[in-house]
Amino acid sequence: MKVSFCKLEDIPDDKTTTVDFFDREVLVFKVDGQPKAVLNICMHLGGPMKRDGNKLICEWHGAEFECGQGKCLKGPADPGSQLITLPTRVENGMLTYVYGE
Ligand code: FES
Repeated sequence: MKVSFCKLEDIPDDKTTTVDFFDREVLVFKVDGQPKAVLNICMHLGGPMKRDGNKLICEWHGAEFECGQGKCLKGPADPGSQLITLPTRVENGMLTYVYGE
């Protein structure tokens, strides 16, 4: 299964862009030049997040997650929790979700 998210050139270096994925919001961004795609769902109660430097911060209660691996840095989300990172690769200049291929 493949789903194209966006052109690689449209992903900002230090911000995020948002794409739709089966009616769920996905944050797309770069970390050290590498594209990442993360479901925009905080591991506390599902709030939306915004990027601040190398962190994604929940807009509802302030939980913080690091951008690279999505690990929780600060509660109230469980300290062992991790954001849901989607498997992707670049195909024909497009960041593409790839599963089972
Ligand atoms: S929903 Fe994100 S910190 Fe509560």
